Amino acid sequence: MPQCKEEPTEFDGYASRYNDLRTCSTGSGRNAITYYDEYKVRHISRDLRVRARASPVRILDYGCGIGNSAPHLSRHFPGALIVGVDVSSTSIEHARAQCRCLDRVSFAHLGDRAFAGGELFDLALISNVLHHAAPSTHSGIISLVKSRLAPGGHLYIFEHNPLNPLTRLAVHRCPFNANAILLLARQACSLFVGSGFEEVVIQYTLFAPACLRFLGFIERYLHGLPFGAQYCARATAPRPA
Ligand SMILES: C[S@@+](CC[C@H](N)C(=O)[O-])C[C@H]1O[C@@H](n2cnc3c(N)ncnc32)[C@H](O)[C@@H]1O
Repeated sequence: MPQCKEEPTEFDGYASRYNDLRTCSTGSGRNAITYYDEYKVRHISRDLRVRARASPVRILDYGCGIGNSAPHLSRHFPGALIVGVDVSSTSIEHARAQCRCLDRVSFAHLGDRAFAGGELFDLALISNVLHHAAPSTHSGIISLVKSRLAPGGHLYIFEHNPLNPLTRLAVHRCPFNANAILLLARQACSLFVGSGFEEVVIQYTLFAPACLRFLGFIERYLHGLPFGAQYCARATAPRPA
């Protein structure tokens, strides 16, 4: 069950300094943080193009935090309606303030009625959320998101890769990761399979840090190597037979 609005959550206390803590723990500047946020959206956009899938019309950003992905989703998928949801009410307030100039972008607490009903999404993103949720809740989260996806809709999960020592160091340095439990890519894969998703694929990402972004074009040839700083697990919601 989603937490109710009044219940304080771990990220309420981090929302106002969320990006500052990220810059400190990675030893990079604000531009680099923006690069990492956009990287994931660019990855999704390219992946959909390569697979000749239609551009999404309704996008769910599950565990959206302070809304860092929304400006990039808005730019890479112009015209799409974007809904961000999170269990942290304070993060949602920050997301609304940060994205107030963006059309077709809205944010809701996970317990809000606004999120409970309504149309289905054709793309969902869960970025760096699962390692903050108790492992026993993961399959419930994936099932919830699946229930909000249209048949044939796509789910992309981005997670820190625990096999990369630099990732582990950055995670360890960041105060909001104190309770984080990193997941291996194959665990993300099992979640998809267990929830009845199809076309499950793992791609390792972020082989080059932001300062070496000019090498980014090589990354598409490296997705099979388990050394990227992050990985993307994607799957498709089944279509009726
Ligand atoms: C590290 S932040 C990531 C925020 C954003 N997705 C991003 O990539 O910048 C993790 C977010 O997941 C949210 N979160 C944790 N457990 C959640 C759950 N069970 N359902 C929804 N959101 C959750 C937290 O409140 C927090 O905002």
